[in-house]
Amino acid sequence: MRLEGRVAMITGGARGQGAAEARLFAREGAKVVFGDVLDQEGASVQAEINGAGHEAVYVHLDVTSEADWQRAVDVARSRFRRLDVLVNNAGIWREGVVKETTEENWDAVMDVNVTGAFLGTRFVIPEMRRAGGGSIINISSAAGLVGDLRSAPYGASKGGIRLLTRATAIQYAGDGIRANCIHPGPVDAPMYHEIRPDAASREAGTSRTLMGRMGTVEEIAYGALYLASDESSFVTGAELAIDGGMTAQ
Ligand SMILES: NC(=O)c1ccc[n+]([C@@H]2O[C@H](COP(=O)([O-])OP(=O)(O)OC[C@H]3O[C@@H](n4cnc5c(N)ncnc54)[C@H](O)[C@@H]3O)[C@@H](O)[C@H]2O)c1
Repeated sequence: MRLEGRVAMITGGARGQGAAEARLFAREGAKVVFGDVLDQEGASVQAEINGAGHEAVYVHLDVTSEADWQRAVDVARSRFRRLDVLVNNAGIWREGVVKETTEENWDAVMDVNVTGAFLGTRFVIPEMRRAGGGSIINISSAAGLVGDLRSAPYGASKGGIRLLTRATAIQYAGDGIRANCIHPGPVDAPMYHEIRPDAASREAGTSRTLMGRMGTVEEIAYGALYLASDESSFVTGAELAIDGGMTAQ
């Protein structure tokens, strides 16, 4: 198993890509602590993983709350004694070109997508140092690589998490902590359906990929699994686009 003996924390894990990562990491031998603000959905993913004979704990974790981060890290320490992997996956999207974006929407997106990842990184670093190293995986977006037509704050936030990744990589390489990011293209997860609620608009989005379709949550989770495991032990400060070729053009 590719994550045997490892303990992983995943944010935004109650559904979509985060839930797929929780399921896959647990199947690959990791003990998983995953958090979200959707407690009912989180509890049912927890029951499903544990029912399949693996080990996962759901915690209420609003990534913008320092108190929630402290509690989540305490759960990892008390239940599993260590923390080796963090996936900063929680994210939100708000519609709005620059002129139509309210400060409230700007702040909401920045708070979850950038500050949330920053707080997570800050809270897990001492745990990873204690464990002798670790792997931090930040979920950015194709919209962190190329301009986003419909949302100014989303693209700015995903560009922010991209450079947070590099700062983390260069600042903590000496502690054996690696940091990398993933840029998903359109993924068949709730956020994409929220952004593009009708089939025609989804097709307009997926036509920008070379494969002409949405990615699956598993296709993203396998990238995260690689970056979480020792198979990527020489990879840090790197960026993996899993976007069906969208940003290759
Ligand atoms: N779906 C796509 O097409 C797509 C494309 C590129 C990048 N992404 C990114 O992938 C990540 C996962 O999104 P998804 O596609 O699975 O959609 P999703 O909306 O299902 O997942 C986002 C999760 O984050 C959670 N969340 C929101 N605010 C939170 C907070 N304050 N604290 C903790 N959790 C919070 C949500 O409840 C949800 O479970 C996000 O960062 C998103 O920006 C998605």
